[in-house]
Amino acid sequence: MTPLLEVEDLRVAYGKIEAVKGISFTVPAGQVVTLIGTNGAGKTTTLRTLSGLLTPRTGKITFDGHPLNGVPAHKIVERGLAHSPEGRRLFPRLTIAENLQLGAFLRKDTAGITRDIQRVYDLFPILGERRRQPSGTLSGGEQQMLAMGRALMSRPKLLMLDEPSMGLSPIMMQKIMDTIRELRTQGTTILLVEQNAQAALSLADEGHVMETGRIVLSGTGAHLLHDASVRKAYLGED
Ligand SMILES: Nc1ncnc2c1ncn2[C@@H]1O[C@H](COP(=O)(O)OP(=O)(O)O)[C@@H](O)[C@H]1O
Ligand SMILES: [Mg+2]
Repeated sequence: MTPLLEVEDLRVAYGKIEAVKGISFTVPAGQVVTLIGTNGAGKTTTLRTLSGLLTPRTGKITFDGHPLNGVPAHKIVERGLAHSPEGRRLFPRLTIAENLQLGAFLRKDTAGITRDIQRVYDLFPILGERRRQPSGTLSGGEQQMLAMGRALMSRPKLLMLDEPSMGLSPIMMQKIMDTIRELRTQGTTILLVEQNAQAALSLADEGHVMETGRIVLSGTGAHLLHDASVRKAYLGED
């Protein structure tokens, strides 16, 4: 089966600094694929390029059977690729409900939007209870839920999550990881970027380890979780 997303020899630079140095990977439909790696490895740059926010130097991106190169960011969302960015980037003065509405900015099916907002509240009941509260008043974990919910409002085929566990308590992190698992069960394909290798590999079908712009190791989540070099570098073992 052709994968939902195929990335071939992607290179991305900021001026003279090459941040992504020729990476290739695929995301099969229905799976969770994770990119792990320390700060500066090029994970965020990769996601921003897939979303059309950065232009690659070289490389081919194929999504759902069509090339994405040169397609503007809003068209990429329309084609079914949603991005929950690093740091969440919510609108702090707008309410939860308003933030979710903004996630559906390309849609015109009012009834469908209302239904999907309810689905986000079913997934995260706390967001429903606080729907009229400005998002800036939410805790870090609740803001992460809202960032994921907002991305889901475009009804994506592929949901990209950039460090959803960043800054969260262990309990909240578990809740976010459980939700990712549930979304996968519901049929959403996910590309998960994480520094928390343990959490990401525990739920991913496949993983890739990035170091200074390159993929240095790939395998199933379970395989990488037990790999000695991964354990040493990312899970703090000797
Ligand atoms: N806007 C930018 N301008 C210049 N260099 C950048 C910019 N954003 C990121 N970089 C550099 O690109 C490399 C990869 O960064 P990034 O993709 O954010 O890594 P990660 O998400 O894995 O931490 C780093 O060396 C970083 O300093
Ligand atoms: Mg990053």
